[in-house]
Amino acid sequence: MKIHGKDYKTVYFEEDSLFLIDQNQLPNELEIKSYTDYREVVEAIQIMAVRGAPAIGAAGAYGMALAAQSAKDADFRSALKKARQELIDSRPTAVDLTIGVMQVYEAALKFIPDYDAARKVALMTAHEFTRRSEEQCYQLGLHGADLVPDGARILTHCNAGALATVDHGTALAVIRAAHDQGKDIFVYVDETRPRLQGGRLTAFELEQEGIPHAVITDAAAGYYFWKNEIDLVVTGADRICLNGDIANKIGTYEKAVLAKHHGIPFYIAAPNSTFDFSCKRGEDIPIEFRDEDEIKYIDGNLITNAGSPALNPAFDVTPAEFITKIITPLGNFDPQEAALKVQS
Ligand code: MRU
Repeated sequence: MKIHGKDYKTVYFEEDSLFLIDQNQLPNELEIKSYTDYREVVEAIQIMAVRGAPAIGAAGAYGMALAAQSAKDADFRSALKKARQELIDSRPTAVDLTIGVMQVYEAALKFIPDYDAARKVALMTAHEFTRRSEEQCYQLGLHGADLVPDGARILTHCNAGALATVDHGTALAVIRAAHDQGKDIFVYVDETRPRLQGGRLTAFELEQEGIPHAVITDAAAGYYFWKNEIDLVVTGADRICLNGDIANKIGTYEKAVLAKHHGIPFYIAAPNSTFDFSCKRGEDIPIEFRDEDEIKYIDGNLITNAGSPALNPAFDVTPAEFITKIITPLGNFDPQEAALKVQS
């Protein structure tokens, strides 16, 4: 991803440290923080300094590798087990996190009692998970761009950009690829209450890459559908089930319903690590509820009635019947067949 003309990755590892772009500071400040302890990575995921399904997958994989580096031989197995659980529990909905953490954990355990080899393999596995994730996002962008006509006016929700992945993005990989192919596109960016990933992060990425766009309130999408000014919708996902149901940022479902009502294609873009082959249907997806203060306060200022509680589900489920295609690194598939294609 280009920021001020320079290439950046959201998640990378150098020497003994994990580096993450701090997404809570963007778009006002570009700060890259370093981490050497898996517990700091747990916290970074919880406070959403790193967020977005593939990005927390890679951060979790490196978190697990960091835990292996510091675990003592005597209690290696139990230390890794503890770290595994804390990392997985740090956010429940995006399955990429569980997959990234488990890959590193299982790879390391195989080498016990050669603890040095286990540490080495843990880091190599995290590197490989991250490299594959980045490559898959690039590939799915190329497939998805086939679905974007010249002149398309596109709606996207939340941030499914390079910042939500290691690089390139998922929904934004599609948009980037279409733009790079010279297509004249325009992007409506839902601001995405309460964390404003659209207004802060997607808008930032699109501006940095010179892609025409405008931020709209979450409630404004219906107006633009009604005006026939949206040609397609593309978002990312946090978990994709065997039957093609998906979970994504709260507010995704209502955009899918609007798209179906207006006969507009609704696409989901995701790398392989977002597929949960043990999840039969949307009802099986654990939905994260976050602190009510994310809704009640903006920049420390109370913006709702003080005595009223707020409800803050971070994700919702969009059933397969509302999804036109799932865009994957292997191609664009009907939602009901996507998991099978990716698994084989
Ligand atoms: O709460 P967030 O910001 O982690 O939610 C992110 C999303 O919902 C994204 O759309 C999803 O992770 C796919 S990103 C490539």
